[in-house]
Amino acid sequence: MNKVKAAVFASGNGSNFEAIMKHEKLACDVVLLVCDKPGASVIEKASSYSVQTFVLNPEDFESKGKYEEEILIKLEQEGVEWIFLAGYMRIAGETLLHAYERKIMNIHPSLLPAFPGKDAIGQAFRAGVAVTGVTVHFIDEGVDTGPIIAQEQVEIFPEDTEELLKIRIQKVEHVLYPTVINSILLSDKME
Ligand code: GAR
Repeated sequence: MNKVKAAVFASGNGSNFEAIMKHEKLACDVVLLVCDKPGASVIEKASSYSVQTFVLNPEDFESKGKYEEEILIKLEQEGVEWIFLAGYMRIAGETLLHAYERKIMNIHPSLLPAFPGKDAIGQAFRAGVAVTGVTVHFIDEGVDTGPIIAQEQVEIFPEDTEELLKIRIQKVEHVLYPTVINSILLSDKME
């Protein structure tokens, strides 16, 4: 049976993209990587997994709406039904949200609603909290807001450095995200 088609959106390194691709029994086919940063490492990673890449610079468009319309055309051409944001450092606009209602997930390196936005790991580290973590959620029009699907805690030790914390957080992300993707796709299929 054909698997449902998905796109990953990413802006940077792509370790979460890679974790999704490496998952042994992923319940979808990742047919497209959408990237808003020409030259980002994730583009090469996608090519190494033979995933088609669609790279656009938002600055080349007169508005967020026009930028997202271009993406939407491509997503529809490729039959994409689900979108997984994996370090996509941009707030989704109305165009994407409307076309993919409750079909866009995001991973964020904190226990939301704490520490949304950029550098969530650094924010938590500097705040001196004892526990931070990882959240997977459906997105809405806000910055790292929307219904939470899963969270996992990561302890911050007194002797920690930000770099060590990042390594532990990303290790959790790489297991949690593909697992949550699979369970949501499975429950969606049952409905
Ligand atoms: C990940 O830690 C992800 O949770 C975070 O960006 C990183 C991307 O790493 N996302 C956000 O902060 C979203 N607000 P990666 O490119 O190696 O997957």
